[in-house]
Parts: sequence; C-alpha cells; structure tokens
Amino acid sequence: MSVKVLGISASPRLKGNSDLLLREALSGAESAGAQVEYIRLSDLNISPCVECNSCYKTGRCRIEDDYQDVFKKMIETDRLIFATPIFFMNVCAQAKTLIDRCQCLWSNKYVLNKPLIISSNEGRRAMVIAVGGSKSKKMFESVRLTMKYYFDVLDMKYAINLFINKVDDSGAIKKHPLGLKEAYRLGSELVTSENLLSEKPVDVELT
Ligand SMILES: Cc1cc2nc3c(=O)[nH]c(=O)nc-3n(C[C@H](O)[C@H](O)[C@H](O)COP(=O)(O)O)c2cc1C
Repeated sequence: MSVKVLGISASPRLKGNSDLLLREALSGAESAGAQVEYIRLSDLNISPCVECNSCYKTGRCRIEDDYQDVFKKMIETDRLIFATPIFFMNVCAQAKTLIDRCQCLWSNKYVLNKPLIISSNEGRRAMVIAVGGSKSKKMFESVRLTMKYYFDVLDMKYAINLFINKVDDSGAIKKHPLGLKEAYRLGSELVTSENLLSEKPVDVELT
C-alpha cells in the first residue's frame, strides 16, 4: 500500500506563496510513490474552538462542521504537509483555527490518557512550509512552537521545516526557483527518508 500524504493549505490566498510551495511538495511526494490529497482550509467551514471542554469527557469535538472530516483525514494519513503564511509572527488564523480545534486530541491524550486510534503509527511524520514577507527570521519561532504541540497531539514526528522569508506578493514564490525545488525535494524526502527521525526537525531556511 502506498504512503498517504495529506497537504493542508492554510493561506486565504488561492495559489498564494505557501500554497504553491505545498503543491510542489505534494508533487515531490507523488514522485516518490505516495498517494496525495490536498485540502484548502479557506474552502471549508471550520469554526473556532469555543472552549466548552466537552472533549475532556469524550475526547471528541462536539462542533459538527468540516473539522470532523479534516480530523478523520489527519488521523488516517501517514504524512502531513502543513503550509501557512506568516501573519503577525505566527501561523495565519485559518491554520490556528484548525489547530485549536485539535484540543479534543489534547484532551484525549492528556486528560483521558487514551491512545489515538490511527490506522498506522509507523513513521507518521509531518512537514511545515511557512512563508513571510519580511526578512525577520524571528517569525518562524512561534510557528515552530505551535506546530510542535500540534504534531504532538497527532502523534506525528515533527520532521521537516521549509521556511522562506522575503517573499510577499501573491505568487512571488514563482521567482524563487530554489524554494520550489526544495519544496519538491523535501516532499519526496518526507515519504522516503528514514533519516528524518532525529529529535529535531530538519530545517531549510531560505531568503
Ligand atoms: C494579516 C497579515 C499579517 C502579516 N504578518 C506578517 C509578519 O508578521 N511577518 C512577515 O514577514 N510577513 C507578514 N505578512 C506577509 C505575508 O506573510 C506574505 O505576504 C506571505 O508571502 C503570504 O503568504 P501566502 O501567499 O502563502 O498567503 C502578513 C500579511 C498579512 C496579510
């Protein structure tokens, strides 16, 4: 059975910079034999967590919207590639809304002490793509922390970061051949490489 790769695009811009990089990464994964699926959060209806804490009892989120479907996809995938623009030094609101809804996974793991029911936990691992318009590298610090805790509740190894700064206008990443090439290469590596299981994620930071 081929490796399943789920790509989550958080940018509100259709074919924005992080989205184009995600598409390259998924092409790289596909070239490595993976079965890929792409979803765009702006096409979905996902409400913010309302902190009702009902998941503390059930381990499930009680809000019935598109999160339930994304939840299933996140649980079933072998690899996850999460792409986000940098907004105010962190992931964008669409990304954060999805991540906050994963509080039910946190509850399942740390309040109810239950294992995550996943089809296979063999080598589940994730990659982050983040793009910012400025040259500050500090903007990736918050992303690292948020994604670390998100992948933890998904029982996924945080394997790779592709961080690119100084890319601002929509589609400007097309003039960054190295960024696109790296996205393709890392997408493929996420599927094939066994050397990604070191403690810290592999970091590729480009300007
Ligand atoms: C609301 C908002 C906040 C932003 N905040 C930052 C920021 O803190 N640092 C930065 O470098 N760029 C910031 N940007 C610029 C975007 O990160 C940049 O345009 C990026 O290329 C967008 O990626 P996308 O095309 O994938 O959406 C911001 C843009 C918007 C609209």
